[in-house]
Amino acid sequence: MSSNSDTATELPVRQIPGSYGIPFLGAIFDRFDYFYNQGRDGFFQSRINKYKSTVFRTNMPPGPFNASDPRVVAVLDAVSFPILFDTSKVEKRDVFTGTYMPSTDFTGGYRVCAYLDPSEKKHQQIKNFFFTLLASRKDQTIPLLRSYLNDLFLKLDDQVHDHGHASLNSISDSELFNFVFRLYSGKDPAQTSLGSFASKLFELWVLPQVAAVGSLGLPWYFFPINVVEDFFLHTLPFPAWLLKWDQRKLYKALYSSATEALDLASTYGLSREEACNNLLFVLGFNTYGGVKIVVPTLMKWVGLAGKILHKRIADEVRTTVKEEGGVSLAAVEKMALVKSVVWEAMRIEPPVPYQYGKAKEDVVIRSHDAAFVVKKGEMIFGFQPFATKDERVFKNAKEFVGDRFVGEEGESLLKYVYWSNGRETEDPTAGNKQCPGKNLVELILRVFLVDFFLRFDTFTVKLGKPTLGPSVTITSLVRASTI
Ligand code: HEM
Repeated sequence: MSSNSDTATELPVRQIPGSYGIPFLGAIFDRFDYFYNQGRDGFFQSRINKYKSTVFRTNMPPGPFNASDPRVVAVLDAVSFPILFDTSKVEKRDVFTGTYMPSTDFTGGYRVCAYLDPSEKKHQQIKNFFFTLLASRKDQTIPLLRSYLNDLFLKLDDQVHDHGHASLNSISDSELFNFVFRLYSGKDPAQTSLGSFASKLFELWVLPQVAAVGSLGLPWYFFPINVVEDFFLHTLPFPAWLLKWDQRKLYKALYSSATEALDLASTYGLSREEACNNLLFVLGFNTYGGVKIVVPTLMKWVGLAGKILHKRIADEVRTTVKEEGGVSLAAVEKMALVKSVVWEAMRIEPPVPYQYGKAKEDVVIRSHDAAFVVKKGEMIFGFQPFATKDERVFKNAKEFVGDRFVGEEGESLLKYVYWSNGRETEDPTAGNKQCPGKNLVELILRVFLVDFFLRFDTFTVKLGKPTLGPSVTITSLVRASTI
């Protein structure tokens, strides 16, 4: 039997509390609690209170009939959570979306990288292909991104000026989609057969793949509308064939434009077809889907933090850019506050809240207070927003503290930042399941802040009902008084 070793001290072994209820019905009741009666955070918090434990048994949505087995052992604190990163102890095969997996018809019949366990040879081939692809784009990334950010900020400024407000999500989605498409394929999407509807065609293809774990968020008193929603979203798998035409359209556009990337894939022993389906998923799901969440998340928290933090960021950005003679990788690397603000946003609201892994053997999981034995074959589930807001690791964990990770003491907490499906202090490799886009994502967010605060002194935001991520409206924008 093996264990996670974050805590060296001997802890009492405790039976894992919680129950799955009556077969089938228990999972449906839990699903209703999760989506409609208690809400996501209330669901987990009420069980932590009830069982006096951050490790317990529960069912996770979607449950019947989407998932054959909804039973999980939930790990909700900073110490137990990293068991999910240890691929010698947990199997990550087909668990990317949780206890259910969307049809491979969405991905041309292939199990793409995110669904592969590192023990599968294909995982190594595909992940190494992505590492090389991203490395080959290293020099272009900042200038290309900045050209799209330029348009993005001009549009924001114009709209706030003309209408008194602007939707950050819609403007940033469309500009950053174009950036992402261009970065991977070398072409602007409008130059392909996808035309100006490209980002919408991608969204249409991504959303049904995650619909089973989503909801319009209607509370219990919307009965019976929520029952209808539950039936359509959570009960049966989305029929992927309905979107076959969309998948083919996206695939063909990428196949004919991303020729350089596909040539590279052949050196890793991948067929053009398999590589293209993987690239499509990385472009549309991982990167565009991710950017749609992380940029509004960052601007939500920075916006809410207010003028004092804005001034400190603007000062750091403008001084460093002046000293370094421009916005370069080296300049951004020197900006301790900018880096900390990005990590803090990813800590307080991790963009991908759920992680799953199946115990490969009997495993001992340790929380702060106790040790628990998980049997081989049981599904372990981590809800990251609780793990990275663990008060026993982060002081004032529920508060956004922009400079939390500045300085030696601050940096020592980075090992508890988990957004990339690994510790922030560790790197993605072909042997683990950490996101290969980790550095790129953080670079995009840092450059976003840098360019924003080169142009503007301060701003205010209004938040709407979150969908895939926060919905952010910019309600005022003050142009930079100094440069
Ligand atoms: C934009 C924000 C992004 C976020 C929030 C994000 C988040 C994540 C997370 C949490 C995982 C692990 C999922 C799991 O197994 O439980 C993951 C895996 C993955 N991500 Fe990202 N990602 C982002 C961008 C990117 C980019 C730019 C790439 C480009 C290569 C990428 C490619 C992948 C791949 C291929 C995997 C599977 C890794 C493996 O199988 O070892 N992601 N990502």
